[in-house]
Amino acid sequence: MRLMFLGDVVGRSGRAGITARLPGLRADWGLDFVVVNGENATSGAGLSADHAKALLAAGADCVTLGDHAFDQKDMLSYIETEPRILRPLNYAKTAPGKGARVFEAKGGRKVLVAQVLGQVFMKRPFDDPFSAIDAVLRAHPLGGAVQAAVVEIHCEATSEKMGMGHWCDGRASLVVGAHTHVPTADAQILPGGTGFQSDAGMCGDYNSVIGMDKLEPMRRFVTGMPKERFTPANGEATLCGTYVETDDRTGKATKIRMIRVGGGLEGARP
Ligand SMILES: [Fe+2]
Ligand SMILES: [Fe+2]
Repeated sequence: MRLMFLGDVVGRSGRAGITARLPGLRADWGLDFVVVNGENATSGAGLSADHAKALLAAGADCVTLGDHAFDQKDMLSYIETEPRILRPLNYAKTAPGKGARVFEAKGGRKVLVAQVLGQVFMKRPFDDPFSAIDAVLRAHPLGGAVQAAVVEIHCEATSEKMGMGHWCDGRASLVVGAHTHVPTADAQILPGGTGFQSDAGMCGDYNSVIGMDKLEPMRRFVTGMPKERFTPANGEATLCGTYVETDDRTGKATKIRMIRVGGGLEGARP
């Protein structure tokens, strides 16, 4: 199977990049399943129902959220009506929606997608992601109940992401990080056969501070004082993500590539 994960879509720039390019990438690269993180797609904070519909219409089979899951309040109810949207497994005990689901790809092949939040340097404490994902992976054995499995580890620390990669090694097709909005150059297949990249990066304007117009973040770093709200940068987006090919029989990764398309970053394709 050919799978692609695209990192955090940021603002109008990120949405426009997805709408303009994802349909063509799906066709050109023969993608079977696409996961897009949408947690910053609406004004840089959260995902509205309308913008979720746009990401799905452009070719996302699954849209994941993150620590910003419910910054847009209409997502609290919309997620209950749209099973293709996932929030983190360990977000909160009573959170609406689901953190993991089995999807059906072309030919009836089953793809598990799950998202977990890390605990290191995050703004509020979340439950242990390692035990949360362990239960899901045990219930959906790779090469048995599912032909592929994608785990998103949504957090700040690369150490926690790498720990999660090894924790899931051999039990997921791809473990990929998101949340920092900057891609790491460590895409690899781990010893047990799991594709891994610490962070996929964002789909947004990289002439910015992690997707936000650079003036206000720079002002806060330099003066220590906020003056305005953060607003997304609106230059052309680079779509950043991870591409993985898997063996349907085992569910393990056979090839992994970092993806960067459009905008200011050096390009990278499968
Ligand atoms: Fe994000
Ligand atoms: Fe995040």
